Amino acid sequence: MRTPLVAGNWKMNGSRASVKELINGVVDGAKAINGVDIAVCPPFIFIADVVAVTEGTNVAVGSQDASTELKGAFTGETSVEMIRDFGCKYAIVGHSERRTLYGETDEIVAKKFGVVKNAGLIPIFCIGETLEEREQDITEEVCARQIDAVFAAHGENAFEGSVIAYEPVWAIGTGKTASPEQAQAVHAFIRAHLAKRNADIAEKVQILYGGSMNPGNAKELMGQGDIDGGLIGGASLKADDFLAVCAAGQ
Ligand code: PGA
Repeated sequence: MRTPLVAGNWKMNGSRASVKELINGVVDGAKAINGVDIAVCPPFIFIADVVAVTEGTNVAVGSQDASTELKGAFTGETSVEMIRDFGCKYAIVGHSERRTLYGETDEIVAKKFGVVKNAGLIPIFCIGETLEEREQDITEEVCARQIDAVFAAHGENAFEGSVIAYEPVWAIGTGKTASPEQAQAVHAFIRAHLAKRNADIAEKVQILYGGSMNPGNAKELMGQGDIDGGLIGGASLKADDFLAVCAAGQ
């Protein structure tokens, strides 16, 4: 059995004060939750404050991105070593907002995936189709292409010890959730696609659903056989909502 993972993606939200309140609330409530891996991914500048609260608790921390480069003259970038040094366990790579708003190609995302893993961090590798691609009925092709870029760069065992988040772009921040059946169908496809390279790794990879997951739909989504948790945006900004989603994974 795979342990579910519920990860909050705070995106570019919060102030120093509001983040303190949020993380204290999450850590407090998480004490009562067992059998679910829990993580929060704050903006870089808040990571140190958040880790100061989560250290020694069952709440892990991740970054929302990582540089492709390891060090040097890359103004504005944050390296995987820095991310690890500040106590992160995870790094989100290839979120659709990075892909569409910041021009991250499959190849750039695959490179990030590799540097994150090499640093001993766990990549939360995001994939998913746009509305247009779903309407063209090419959801599976799009997900396969995004995954295959990682296989091409890092070999057959690339996904060992990593996490995948399936996030249909049309469901992110829109209030439109994929139905449990729709999501499960894509998750099963993703696992089968991974299994073509290595069945053992495919069985172990946590595949999260992301896109308007909330306390009202989390249980049904996570009840599907291949949905192993969630990557939560909007609903992760309120401790009670986020904790309710975490509890739904129990
Ligand atoms: P949402 O975002 O839960 O607000 O739809 C999910 C994500 O972008 O990771």
